[in-house]
Amino acid sequence: MRLALLPLLFLVVASLVACAPGELDADALLDPDSCAACHPVHFEQWSGSMHAYTGVDPLFTAMNQVFLEDTGDRDPDYCVSCHSPMAVRAGESDLATAPDHLKGVTCVACHLVDEVPEDHNAGQSLADDGVIRGGIADPVETGAHDSKYSLLHDRNDPSSSSLCGACHCVFTPDDIHVERTFFEWRETVFASHDLTRLTCSRCHMRGTNGPVAVGEDMPIRRRHDHSWPGVDVALTNFPGRDEQLSLIQGELDDSLYAQLCVEPGPAGVEVAVRLENVGGGHSFPSGSTVDRRVWVEIRAFAGKEEIFSSGVVEDGQPVTANGDPTTWLIRDQHEDANGDPVDWMWQAETVRSNLLEAPVTLDPTSPAYLHYQERRLPIYTGIPDRVTMRVRMRATALEVFDALAEQTDLDPNLAQEQPTFDLGSTVLEWTGGLESLGTCVD
Ligand code: HEC
Ligand code: HEC
Ligand code: HEC
Ligand code: HEC
Ligand code: HEC
Repeated sequence: MRLALLPLLFLVVASLVACAPGELDADALLDPDSCAACHPVHFEQWSGSMHAYTGVDPLFTAMNQVFLEDTGDRDPDYCVSCHSPMAVRAGESDLATAPDHLKGVTCVACHLVDEVPEDHNAGQSLADDGVIRGGIADPVETGAHDSKYSLLHDRNDPSSSSLCGACHCVFTPDDIHVERTFFEWRETVFASHDLTRLTCSRCHMRGTNGPVAVGEDMPIRRRHDHSWPGVDVALTNFPGRDEQLSLIQGELDDSLYAQLCVEPGPAGVEVAVRLENVGGGHSFPSGSTVDRRVWVEIRAFAGKEEIFSSGVVEDGQPVTANGDPTTWLIRDQHEDANGDPVDWMWQAETVRSNLLEAPVTLDPTSPAYLHYQERRLPIYTGIPDRVTMRVRMRATALEVFDALAEQTDLDPNLAQEQPTFDLGSTVLEWTGGLESLGTCVD
């Protein structure tokens, strides 16, 4: 059983309470607010991040509630162990009553990690000495906390990916690998080749120059971004939402290489679309890919008339609502042993997946070198003179909001706050006509 580790971790934190040195006592160390005065930039960025939001996220709260109702007391800490690890370690895994400062992935959930004995399901262990770990080899002394350099916290060291990876790698209680970001990364050239080595934090915590703590004569260092934009964004009133939205758009705009070709086909014209994951250090999308919706919209016109479309989805409608079987959807699907879809991720018995994989080899002669996916769509209704495409993305399927609103008191209107992103590099337009068939745009 993979979660057998948790009670042990809880003991470790209980003992931490006895022996934290310096001005911040053990309770204060657990509270991100007590870091704010000296590390205002880190605090502000973290406060708007999904690592903070997950502690109050109504979507998570609702899904955790459904999990608890569905599975009884089989493993009550399971979800919270990653989403609010310090709450579980303090024996407060009921988020309705847990103190606020333990909710979310808090500062010490990362900065007290001293080992990662398991590479999945919150397999980090926390130090019991209260010494804050970071990537600075010669930290200025502070009365607030002892500091220590740690390889696990140094984004230039390959092992630092395991600090992140042990949470970004989710096996269900039945051992089905539903979130695979860390294992995906381990297969890529970013993990396996010195030349192209990029840890999670090299991509996700960019550096700028500046002091990292408030105080006189603080040295100028590399200060690493703590806002971790991905694709999720707060749907309730939460600090830094606009900032997150624009950071996410920036990440997504460079993630994919897209090519749109219009070619002569057996029965007229064929539109060929190629997508290659070039920006991600893991598959695209990654993480909770059963709930993500990524799809390709194609529209073809002859003059003013639309003669073909695929994947056109109205605002506020689920992707599958148009009943269009040609829609290219990129996601995981969870099924039971008979191949029927299951309602929730913890019920999965098998995973069917068509994610866009990241580069795994630098050798152009290897069959794995080409890692794009292609779809071909025949058009029987005429010869287009204009074809448009875009890849669109929603963090969470609207069906998930609906299902949760049915079973819990989740506000059904929350879904309206969720943006649909268009990925900049995939917004393409081909123009031409009969004489241009066989050409591509990218
Ligand atoms: C009284 C001010 C103060 C408070 C409060 C404070 N720190 Fe620090 N912290 C510092 C100083 C000063 C440094 C050293 C900065 C340097 O060397 O440039 C530091 C360094 C760090 C480092 C880098 C350690 C390393 O070796 O890489 C981390 C991480 C850190 N603090 C996290 C925290 C966290 C988390 C909290 C809240 C629980 C916190 N700090 C509270 C002043 C403070
Ligand atoms: C998800 C894990 C994680 C969380 C949560 C987190 N940090 Fe960090 N933090 C890191 C990592 C990793 C580094 C080191 C990056 C490096 O040096 O390569 C770091 C570095 C730092 C540093 C050293 C200066 C720098 O920018 O490298 C300070 C100070 C710091 N964090 C403060 C905080 C505070 C305060 C909080 C909470 C408000 C917090 N961190 C939350 C992962 C985290
Ligand atoms: C204690 C567990 C834990 C650790 C350690 C952790 N994460 Fe996370 N992370 C989470 C959870 C839970 C979420 C989901 C929050 C959400 O999306 O609402 C998340 C969200 C994210 C997101 C945003 C995902 C999205 O869809 O928008 C990014 C990016 C991310 N983490 C990167 C990192 C990196 C990089 C590290 C290491 C420095 C790290 N995480 C360490 C648990 C963790
Ligand atoms: C080469 C750069 C790179 C590396 C290395 C990398 N990422 Fe990412 N990551 C990205 C980009 C770009 C995105 C936004 C596009 C996307 O969603 O895939 C992203 C998105 C994410 C997301 C949101 C996933 C989604 O698609 O829904 C998570 C979570 C995440 N990364 C975690 C990690 C973790 C954990 C690691 C290390 C094991 C890591 N990343 C390594 C570039 C990187
Ligand atoms: C091993 C750690 C881990 C466990 C266990 C885990 N999660 Fe997550 N979860 C994550 C990470 C990491 C992400 C962020 C991935 C991403 O955004 O792509 C995430 C994302 C999510 C999201 C989407 C973001 C959000 O908060 O809106 C939901 C909802 C969620 N998890 C619910 C659950 C539920 C319910 C359970 C228990 C049945 C659970 N998780 C168990 C690590 C975990």
